[in-house]
This record gives sequence, structure tokens and C-alpha cells, in this order.
Amino acid sequence: MRNAIGTKRAVGLLLALAMLALLLPAAGAEETAVATEHKWWQDTIVYQVYPQSYQDTDGNGYGDLKGLNEHLDYLASLGVGAIWLTPVMVSPMVDNGYDVADYTDIDPRYGTMEDMEQLIADAADRDIRIVMDLVLNHTSDQHAWFLESASGRDNDKSDWYIWRDPKPDGSAPNNWRAIFGGSAWVWCEARGQYYLHTFAPQQPDLNWENPEVRQAVYDVANFWLDKGAGGFRIDAITYIKKPADFSDGEPDGADGMVGIHAMTANTEGILDFLREFKENTVAGRDVFTVGEANGVQASELPDWVGENGVFDMLFEFSHVDIGNGTAHTWSDPAPWTLTDLKAAFAASQQATKDNGWYPVFLENHDQPRSINHFLPDAEDPVMAAKLLGTLLITMRGTPFIFEGQELGYTNVAWDDISLYNDLNTYAQYLFAMEEGFTEEEAMEGVHRFSRDNARTPMQWDDGENASFTDGTPWLPVNDNYTEVNVATEAADPDSVLSWYRTLSGLRASSQVLLYGDYTELFPESEEIFAYRRQTEDGEMVILLNFTNGAVSYDAAAVEGLEPLLSNYGDAEAGALRPLEAVIWH
Ligand code: GLC
Repeated sequence: MRNAIGTKRAVGLLLALAMLALLLPAAGAEETAVATEHKWWQDTIVYQVYPQSYQDTDGNGYGDLKGLNEHLDYLASLGVGAIWLTPVMVSPMVDNGYDVADYTDIDPRYGTMEDMEQLIADAADRDIRIVMDLVLNHTSDQHAWFLESASGRDNDKSDWYIWRDPKPDGSAPNNWRAIFGGSAWVWCEARGQYYLHTFAPQQPDLNWENPEVRQAVYDVANFWLDKGAGGFRIDAITYIKKPADFSDGEPDGADGMVGIHAMTANTEGILDFLREFKENTVAGRDVFTVGEANGVQASELPDWVGENGVFDMLFEFSHVDIGNGTAHTWSDPAPWTLTDLKAAFAASQQATKDNGWYPVFLENHDQPRSINHFLPDAEDPVMAAKLLGTLLITMRGTPFIFEGQELGYTNVAWDDISLYNDLNTYAQYLFAMEEGFTEEEAMEGVHRFSRDNARTPMQWDDGENASFTDGTPWLPVNDNYTEVNVATEAADPDSVLSWYRTLSGLRASSQVLLYGDYTELFPESEEIFAYRRQTEDGEMVILLNFTNGAVSYDAAAVEGLEPLLSNYGDAEAGALRPLEAVIWH
């Protein structure tokens, strides 16, 4: 039987009626009781802004806080209730702000503290909160704390970083390789010692074993809470606790080194630090925390989130790491199938089922664009973007949209490595060649995984530089900006942006999408990602065809339900067209 919804344009009307119907049960006493159990951040959508790439207002080619402020109404129109702002504190920008030189002031590149206060206030007027990115594993090597610590062994901050003596032959204390390449140790003449850096040499790790350091870090968090921050995304948090044993690890590369992640991530005892952090900062405040927790498995989530957890949510990476090869280079990706991807999501959904809450994300400023990442062979990028948007917004959890994702951004592929900005892209490029890959293979890796794929400027319209800046953009605008941009898509009811707005409205008014359980359907299918969301009063079935071909499924899955939304405008029980995304209710 064909459940025709009519033309694409009719979808809007049908949806409006359906949404009205969905809203009605919310007035019932039982539903209201359920609803009050949720915190504000569970019912909203978070939008991640990479401020450097959002909107430039002073013509220097870098986005700024005033520029972001100009687009708050745009974000409100997407149903966004919180903006995660990647770091805007004073920084030499070796890692674009993830190397903080002063935690309590704004980098001039982004504006002033007044601009920040204005942003927090103007966002609040629209019921949007600003969530700060706290980088607490390391500082910049230009931070006053580090400059003092590195000045000698006898000063107030001498034990604020991880200092170690050389090996007897004068070489680095061990063979750990930093995440951004090379030895994780840098020699300091003034101390006759090495310091440890998990990331770049300019990002020395703080010594969390020192209670003074922990107090200083809590003061930073409280400074921003007192300014009105709506919460924190907490950077690279799994590395703050170092193991007692600093001996060499088993080499995993031709350089004789071992990746530091394997040696230090998620070390026993880390939760004690994080419980203390929570107690001294966010506890009792109406804000949320989301930790970046590379190295924490879905099965460990109960210790990390929920009632007894240290955070409200945790970014867990099993689904985005799916194409990572074993040789730790971008040039050797691992093959994966849809069932692998679904299993990763299923594990996270299962782990947060009765405990904690899941931050749903497919992209961020460190990841490739999701269309290239998860649907690399998709023949129609618009349909692919709508399919992935449906996944993002209808899963159980709080959706995190990364800027541009709502427009259907795709990766860039520049020919020359010198066109890239990201330090990790250079490190990966060099590492691939050290490991014996060709230049061409190294560039393929860059095209596939470079963090600059995510960082190209926002495309506001089809004007010069997509109207991101009047100057020269710090990173080239994606060539597709004449079609993929806010103005063009806002005017087109069939655009990716319109689809996101529809989905966002649907989620905000749907008890099923906000509160419903999640049950995966057809887990064995290599073609279809499907699940049921269900409350006592209603259900939705979401079906996503990850292939470029027509596929069928057992129509019993949607028996008794009606199609609510499809990226084709209509839907047939038991059949899905290429890249079709459909919601039944
Ligand atoms: C996190 C950030 C990344 C940064 C790194 C070091 O992974 O997301 O952008 O480079 O930490 O701070």
C-alpha cells in the first residue's frame, strides 16, 4: 500500500498537523510529570561554533564574537538553546585557541570581554546559553604559570607541570609520541629537565596531582560560571591523570615511539579528580557539562555520566573513529560496514539508557564532514545530508549540530599541503610519509581526515567569500558556497537547512523524540539504519537507507503507523528509495 503524502511542498502542511497532534498529549498530567524530569539541556539542541570561521566583522579574515552575535536569530530559528563556543581565551593560536595563555580574558582576535558579556546577554534574550570550552589538561607554553614553572626549579609554580629528568644518556624520559606527532617531551635548559605535552610542544600538560593546580582550574571554571556561562565542554579530559609508571612503551611505529594515548588515557584515579572538579564548580548550578572523553568506552559510561557520574554527558568516539586504521595514520583507514556504525551507536544508547544522557554528534571541529565520513559514496549530497540530519535529531539524546552541518557541508580537497592550516594535518602528513606512504597517499589521508574540512568559513550567501569576511579569509571558503549557503537554503523549502528546521521543530514538540526509549530495528541490515522511539503514549519508527539503491524491509515494522516526514515527500511501507530518510508515527 502506498501512503502518499503528496508533493514535497505538502510535507510542510502534513507536518504542521502532525506536530499539533503530537503536542496535544503533552497537556496530559502524566506527560507533564515525565517532562519535568528533564533538564533544559536535554530538550534543546546544541550548536557548535568555531568562532574563527563564523563571521568576521572587522575585516581581518578571522571570525569574531560580534560576528557571532549578529547571527543569534539565525541560531534561534534552528531551535538552538545552547552554543558551544570553541575556546576564545587569550592564545598564541598554535592550536587555534586550544593553547590558552590566559583563561580569564578574551583573545583580541575575537574581541573583548565586553563583547563576550554582550554575547551572553543577547543570547539569553533568545533563551540561548553560551557554553564555554575549557582546556584543562594543558595550557599554552606562553601562559604565565608555565613561564614561571619553566624559569627554574625553585619557584611557586615549579610543580605545576609534568617535569622529569632525562634518561642517563640525556635523552627524553621515555618514548611516548605526542598526539600531534614527535616526542611528547621538550627539553628545558633552565631546569635541566623535560616537560610533557600530550598534544603540541606548545601545549605543556598541567600537573593535576598538585592541589594548587586543581584549585586554579576550579577558579577558572567558576569565573565563567559567574559570567553566566550555561555550561562547559571540557577538552581532552581523559588525559589529566598520568600513570605512576613512566617507562617506555612497546613501539607502534617506525620512529620507535608509542602513541601517548595508549599510555595515559583514562588512567585509574581520574574519576577522583573529576568528582572534585564537579563538587567545586558546577554542582548545584543549572548548567551542563559534556566531557571530551577519547579513550572511554561505552561500557564505562555509567561511571562518567548520570547520577553518580562526573559529567552530564560525554562525547564518546567509537562511531566517529570507525574508519581509523590500526597504524595510527590517516593514510591507512580501516574498512567498515553499516553494522559496525550501528553497533557503535547501539552501545552508547544502551549505556545511557537508564543512566546519564547521550550527546548525539556526527561532526565537530576535529572531524571530517559527516557526508564524506559516513556516506562517502553517496550520489546525492543533499539527500545524504538530510538522512544524516534525521539520524542526528531523532536519536535519543541531545543533538549537537556543528556549524555548516545544517547546510550540508562537504569536505574540501586542496592539492597542496601548504594550503592547510591545522597543525595536526601537517603532523599526520609527515608521519604518513615516515611510515612509508607516498606523497599522494599522504594527501589522500589529508583529504579524508584533515580537521580543516570542518573549519572552512561559514557560507552566508553567494557573495564574495560567502560574506564571511570583507578581507582575506584565514582559510579558503569551500568552492560550493554559491549553492551551499544560508541565504539560498533559507529561501528553498527543500533545502538541507529547511529540513533541519523542520526536524528541530518536530523534536521540540514531540514527547516521543524527547523522552521515548530507543530500540534498534533490523540490526543485521547492511543497508538500513532503523529504530523505534517509544513512550507509553506514542511511537515513531525512523528508517534510513544508507545506500544509493532501492531497498526493502519487513513492513510489519511500521504497521499501524502513518508516514510523518520523508526526504522524498512521500513514503511506502516496506520500501526505501536511495538515501531515503523517513519517519513514521
Ligand atoms: C581536543 C580538541 C582539539 C585540540 C585538542 C588539544 O581534542 O577538540 O581541537 O586540538 O583537544 O587541546
